[in-house]
Amino acid sequence: MKRDRRVLVIVLAVGLVHIVRAGAAGDPVPPTGANTLASPKSFSSIADPQKRSAAYFTELDKVLTHPRCINCHPSGDRPRQGDMRRLHQPPVFRGTDGFGQESMRCVTCHQNTNFEPGRMPGHADWHLAPPEMAWEGKTASEICAQIKDPKRNGKRSLHDLVEHIGKDSLVGWAWAPGFGRTPAPGTQKEAGALVEAWVKSGAVCP
Ligand code: HEC
Ligand code: HEC
Repeated sequence: MKRDRRVLVIVLAVGLVHIVRAGAAGDPVPPTGANTLASPKSFSSIADPQKRSAAYFTELDKVLTHPRCINCHPSGDRPRQGDMRRLHQPPVFRGTDGFGQESMRCVTCHQNTNFEPGRMPGHADWHLAPPEMAWEGKTASEICAQIKDPKRNGKRSLHDLVEHIGKDSLVGWAWAPGFGRTPAPGTQKEAGALVEAWVKSGAVCP
């Protein structure tokens, strides 16, 4: 009981720090050392081309498994929220098209852009990735095999993946997620550069 309470105090304190840090109207969270991405160049010391290619993907996996991406690529039928990837509250479900059930569409709450006063994330195309694109709970090698498979990646070529990860604006939301949320590591451009290096080196899986 005592221990439970201590945990609660810590959780509350951490929450408070977050709110204070996020500051007035959600200042961007300053990038920390841990939230960066290595550039393709920094892998040049890996002599074996196969190993180097797999290493690009392992670095990219930091992005793919980040809560900003996983929350929309969950294993079940409900999105997740926050850095702890808790189940979405209120309960909402993907529905037949990923945009929610008829009674509770994503757009009821999620607008075209983030709405800071309401701490609401937003984008014009806000919806859940289909079940075959779920990454939650998967290893880097499982995600790698899946993301290369046209049957499970929305019929995309490897080149499409470079474009999608490097330029798509819904993916880009993860680097400008609004109120107090930790952005995905590095920048979208850096993530795109890693995908490109991975594809050009034969898209080897770790
Ligand atoms: C009834 C309102 C409501 C509906 C409907 C709704 N959401 Fe949300 N959603 C929220 C709120 C509020 C938050 C912010 C919660 C927070 O960050 O504390 C949120 C946050 C999220 C996040 C978390 C982002 C992150 O990384 O922290 C995801 C993902 C998400 N919603 C997906 C969806 C999807 C997909 C749908 C439709 C299937 C949907 N939501 C429908 C209210 C709603
Ligand atoms: C708001 C929800 C949402 C967020 C946040 C999100 N995605 Fe997605 N993602 C989707 C949806 C929906 C699709 C399917 C759309 C399609 O196929 O055109 C998708 C498809 C993809 C695909 C292509 C299919 C596949 O699995 O290979 C990739 C790659 C992808 N997302 C990468 C990312 C990355 C990287 C992030 C985080 C930086 C991210 N997504 C964040 C909703 C989201």
